[in-house]
Amino acid sequence: MSEMVYIEKLAFGGQGIGKLPGGKIVFVSGAYPGELVEVDIISEKKDYSIGKIKKIVEGISERRVPQCPYFRNCGGCDFLDLDYKKQLQFKEDILKDQLQRIAKISGEIVGKIQKSKNEFGYRLKMEFSFDYQKQTLLGLKMKNSNKIVQVRKCLLAPKSFNKILDTVPEIIDLYKIPVYKNRKGILKHLVLRYSPTENSVMAIFITKTEKFTNRRDLANMLVKKVPYVSSVIHVMNSSDRIVLRGPYKVLKGEGVINYEFDWEKFQVPPTAFFQNNYFVTAKMIEFLTKNLNLEGSETILDLYSGLGTFSIRLAALSKFVVAVESNHVSVRAGKANANINNLRNIKFIESDVEEFLMANENKFDIIVADPPRNGLGNKAVSKIIDMKPEKIAYISCNPSTLARDLKMFVNSGKYKIEIIKPFDIFPQTYHVEAVVLMSRVNKKQINM
Ligand SMILES: C[S@@+](CC[C@H](N)C(=O)[O-])C[C@H]1O[C@@H](n2cnc3c(N)ncnc32)[C@H](O)[C@@H]1O
Repeated sequence: MSEMVYIEKLAFGGQGIGKLPGGKIVFVSGAYPGELVEVDIISEKKDYSIGKIKKIVEGISERRVPQCPYFRNCGGCDFLDLDYKKQLQFKEDILKDQLQRIAKISGEIVGKIQKSKNEFGYRLKMEFSFDYQKQTLLGLKMKNSNKIVQVRKCLLAPKSFNKILDTVPEIIDLYKIPVYKNRKGILKHLVLRYSPTENSVMAIFITKTEKFTNRRDLANMLVKKVPYVSSVIHVMNSSDRIVLRGPYKVLKGEGVINYEFDWEKFQVPPTAFFQNNYFVTAKMIEFLTKNLNLEGSETILDLYSGLGTFSIRLAALSKFVVAVESNHVSVRAGKANANINNLRNIKFIESDVEEFLMANENKFDIIVADPPRNGLGNKAVSKIIDMKPEKIAYISCNPSTLARDLKMFVNSGKYKIEIIKPFDIFPQTYHVEAVVLMSRVNKKQINM
């Protein structure tokens, strides 16, 4: 049965949201606010339906022809058929809608989104999957599926990835290295990291098994054929849930990839988290540190610090930074990064954040937190409020968990939101990052 639906807004997830006759909510992938679409209802739930576009009856003028043959088949992009300026507006709207709906926070406090310098070719890291169909293939996962779409060229990837995507399957077939499929074989993924600073690529091969036949030959051949590959790594990861995790061996090169920002230098090891958009990350570091108005005397707690992306700049501008991170490889890299940047006033602690917070008795002037998608959660938020920092900075990649946590901070009556600034780390996708600055209420005047 088909229905006519007017799309009112976008869900965090990128689907258009409208109402069916009678008022039931319907989610429609690929439809944008302001459009009238005819949809087939493909799934009925108690509180909502899912519709599939049959026809765009009235489209918005900002639609454009997507310049990628894999769009809507591959799960990498959501908004490739939408003008970039409009994408930015929709992302601001998604963030405002989540804040209003979940936390009753008015959109007025949300600043203008920081756009990406490049809307294409911006990704510093991409995870490709191997497949075998008479020959080895490399591709990206389809949305909500384990099926792989072969990709020769991805618009989000730096140009230097294309040659590698062509070359690697040839070498794999030459050395007859079996792809992991139907619970048999070895090779699962190829993760590529690009550094604009060095103009080099780190190639990370992820295997199901410890055994990786001909891996040295593969590495030698790859750097010979693609000289800008500076490191080749083997990661052994038996888990099928997370791509980039597990012990690793350096097959070729230094085993780290280097990035330089304003003045700070970062060494990034294969399995550590690092932000994915060079230009926007630089803007985030700048925004965060400038708006904290540091005087040099502050003690700062940087939660979910990774390898020190924010801690390094924060340490240079304050008295002392304690950086808490659970990933061993990131902590080791964080310590190395502090050394490389000649900073002696950072202490990296390898710990789960909640465990650290529960055991902590020290006081901090400022707490910075950049949790994964699940957000901080009740326990961590309560503990942070109890620790009474003068300022809190919350960096979030998920507007719904952000709204849930901000509601707790605001409802405690002890913290006030100063600003929420969105950043577009991932053009062409629904993702939106936000930096939130909060100050303590009813205490000595805070200069923000
Ligand atoms: C969104 S990343 C942010 C990293 C860093 N702030 C940056 O900008 O590069 C989140 C980080 O939290 C770490 N992490 C995830 N769960 C954690 C936990 N329960 N306790 C401590 N760190 C955790 C991850 O390893 C990752 O480095």
